[in-house]
Amino acid sequence: MAEPQKTWEHRLAKATDSLAVDFVESLSFDTRLYKYDIVGSIAHAEMLCEQKLLTRDELKQIKDALVEISKEIEEGKFKFDKTLEDIHMAIEAALTAKIGEAGKKLHTGRSRNDQVATDIRLWMRDEIEIIQTKIALLQKALVKLAEKYTDNVMPAYTHFQRAQPISIAAYILSFVEQLHRDYLRLKNCRTILNVSPLGSGAIAGSSLPLDRKKTASLLGFADITYNTIDAVSDRDFCAEFIFCCSMIATHLSKFAEDWIVFSTTEFDFIRIDDAFCTSSSMMPQKRNPDMLELIRGKTGSIYGSLMAILTILKAQPSGYNRDLQDDKRHVFSTSDTIEAYVDMAAAIAANTSFKTEKIAAGIDKGFLDATALAEYLVKKGIPFRTAHGIVGTLVAKCEKENKSLAEVSIDEFKKHSEKIGDDVYGCLGGKNVANSYVTASAASPAQMAEQIKYWKKQLEK
Ligand code: ARG
Repeated sequence: MAEPQKTWEHRLAKATDSLAVDFVESLSFDTRLYKYDIVGSIAHAEMLCEQKLLTRDELKQIKDALVEISKEIEEGKFKFDKTLEDIHMAIEAALTAKIGEAGKKLHTGRSRNDQVATDIRLWMRDEIEIIQTKIALLQKALVKLAEKYTDNVMPAYTHFQRAQPISIAAYILSFVEQLHRDYLRLKNCRTILNVSPLGSGAIAGSSLPLDRKKTASLLGFADITYNTIDAVSDRDFCAEFIFCCSMIATHLSKFAEDWIVFSTTEFDFIRIDDAFCTSSSMMPQKRNPDMLELIRGKTGSIYGSLMAILTILKAQPSGYNRDLQDDKRHVFSTSDTIEAYVDMAAAIAANTSFKTEKIAAGIDKGFLDATALAEYLVKKGIPFRTAHGIVGTLVAKCEKENKSLAEVSIDEFKKHSEKIGDDVYGCLGGKNVANSYVTASAASPAQMAEQIKYWKKQLEK
């Protein structure tokens, strides 16, 4: 087997300096594109053959050798040579070393510029599906958890102060909703990126009769790109992909933060299974929510990649520039992080229980029923602003006397408004209030039971 050689040995008088070899190579991180590179090359070769730029026999030799190379890489038998820079040249050199002349024809009408743009799109289409599947599994775990606690009530917070009582399911389903948007964002990202740059060449296309629609359809792209200059330099989809992952991270960092707080002795709303806690090397009593802290913390790495890709793209001159090579570092590290991140969130959701008794015992603290009382007065014909004032006065008084609204006597209520009757007690207390919500999608147990049915059906698909 001949030694693989770089393709421009006739142009440059010297071999690349060893410092430059290390600096310019991407083989250390783009090897994971190898399957996509090979699939792309096979499609390109098929098309070249149809266009009479390769013979049937040459096509067969190329295909067989590429399949062999794929196996060698898979089995760890492939010898990677970083002087070949990247996975594209490594595979091409190995092909030529195997089959000689026919191998030298593969790169006809192609540049690494359209090749890498094609490879990343192919890779990302699959990666998006993997992340979407993981999102759906997380949603399923959350729906299952929500179902257990539909009839239990917890406080909802605004400004991190007790606000109104809600079904615990409503709280949990808030994340299912957020994740649904993340799913759709990824779907949209996949739709936009699913066009073939192959055949754009280095920047202008080719004087050879390449059939771009043919390779696009062989590779399952919905269409071809329509401007070759844009096609080789467009990495919008990489930035968008990282943004989509950043939104997932934003949502799950909120989830992590909530649950870290909920698991404190002060809150004591949830218990995360021991298998997902760590302890302290010094303090024997500790049960630490490290997995959630890492979810929260890794959000920083993902945002870092978002800023990195945007900065890489900023103010590059039109056309391909080598700056683009580092796109993959950020896209790959983001996808690795988000996969582990979503898996961990799903495992925690499946292994956490809500301490319903504890939560119920504290539900009448913090006047969660104040708004419902004001709405009770509205139903009695009092303008909302007036009602708000009446209840505000009552709450201030109760706070001083250290009692809840339900503990106010009917005589005292009447001093504040003649319109208050005995039926007022039916609208006080966390559970009563949560059951009284009637607006569409309000956080009542009844509506959450309906939503759980809806999500179960959706997630079966
Ligand atoms: N490794 C390169 C990258 O990832 C491939 C494209 C190189 N193109 C070039 N004209 N040097 O972007």
